[in-house]
Amino acid sequence: MRVEENVTLAPYGTMRVGGPARFFTEAHTAADIREAALFARRHDLPLFPLGSGSNIVVSDEGVHAVVLRMATRGTAYEQTPHGDAIVIAAAGEPWDGVVAETVARGLGGLENLSLIPGTVGAVPVQNVGAYGVEAADRIIWVEAFDAERLAHFVMTPEECAFGYRDSIFKRGGGKNLIITRVAFRLRKDHAPVTEYADIARYLADMKNSNPSPADIRDAVTAIRRAKLPDPNEIGTVGSFFKNPLIPQAAYEELKERFPECPGFPADGGLVKVPLAWILDHICGMRGLKDGAVGAHERQPLALVHYGGGTARSVRAFSEMVRNKVHEKTGIMPEYEVSFVGRFD
Ligand code: EPU
Repeated sequence: MRVEENVTLAPYGTMRVGGPARFFTEAHTAADIREAALFARRHDLPLFPLGSGSNIVVSDEGVHAVVLRMATRGTAYEQTPHGDAIVIAAAGEPWDGVVAETVARGLGGLENLSLIPGTVGAVPVQNVGAYGVEAADRIIWVEAFDAERLAHFVMTPEECAFGYRDSIFKRGGGKNLIITRVAFRLRKDHAPVTEYADIARYLADMKNSNPSPADIRDAVTAIRRAKLPDPNEIGTVGSFFKNPLIPQAAYEELKERFPECPGFPADGGLVKVPLAWILDHICGMRGLKDGAVGAHERQPLALVHYGGGTARSVRAFSEMVRNKVHEKTGIMPEYEVSFVGRFD
């Protein structure tokens, strides 16, 4: 295992900002992960697992930790007695490659989650979701490595405590777990999930009433390409904030002031309000730019870094956005992205 010192993390994250990792190493095998954990223990530093950095913003001062870039690869397919297929993928596998492979095999389940940047290991952390499907709907188990106990163990979805863009891996002790493999449930006769407005519209245009997983993948790919910034072209981490979940009464009040404001029923009698709509129609922030940072012109929930900016400038812009939303609506948006390192 080769350990480097003071490695600048900006090229390792899709926002393209951020200072150095005190130590930086890569894991290609389970033995590498264990060795990195021992190294971190010897230096009395936390171990920080990194996928492709597509949902984090690293501070300009960097990270005082052993950053472990997960480069473990491999997928395996199994059959259950009930006719389900299972794909088990290593944490370092690029997520969309796994989705593409399942779709090519004619297996349904993950196609709505096409084209999402990132690695398999990052998928459970924020319980990625798109177009009516969440990773939690498909995950059977998550294998993790506990850097304290130096042991692998398997977690059930209940133990992962999945929520909307949330899991145990984002909180407290769960942050010390390194996800090593994830198993997803798939089906040959999978019922397509087509309720999301953009998907329904795309399929109606195509006059396709019986879409295959490949058709849904095509739809999602086209929709994402049309709306979302491409991390190969511009600094982005996708949605920067969560869509707010507010009580019905608060939503009614919002509707009185902004009658067009959309809202979707969510768990616990709450209403999920698209923050992109608020940013666009209430705050007038679609396409807003301040120096090197801005809100994307086709999807303002995605903040973008045009180059030459800093993590501090990204943070300042995002705080300005939150405060503006709060001032106009009384809602304080929560971050969807994870900030790493110090931002005070
Ligand atoms: N809208 C506007 N103006 C815009 C863009 C959108 O008013 O410029 C409104 C429209 O009313 C639209 C609504 O916002 O119907 C919602 O937009 P969209 O369907 O694009 O999705 P979203 O709610 O903004 C969420 C996820 C995305 C995911 C899409 C599709 C969160 C935080 N974000 O975005 O996830 O791809 O739905 O399911 O839940 C991510 O997490 O990084 C991400 C991209």
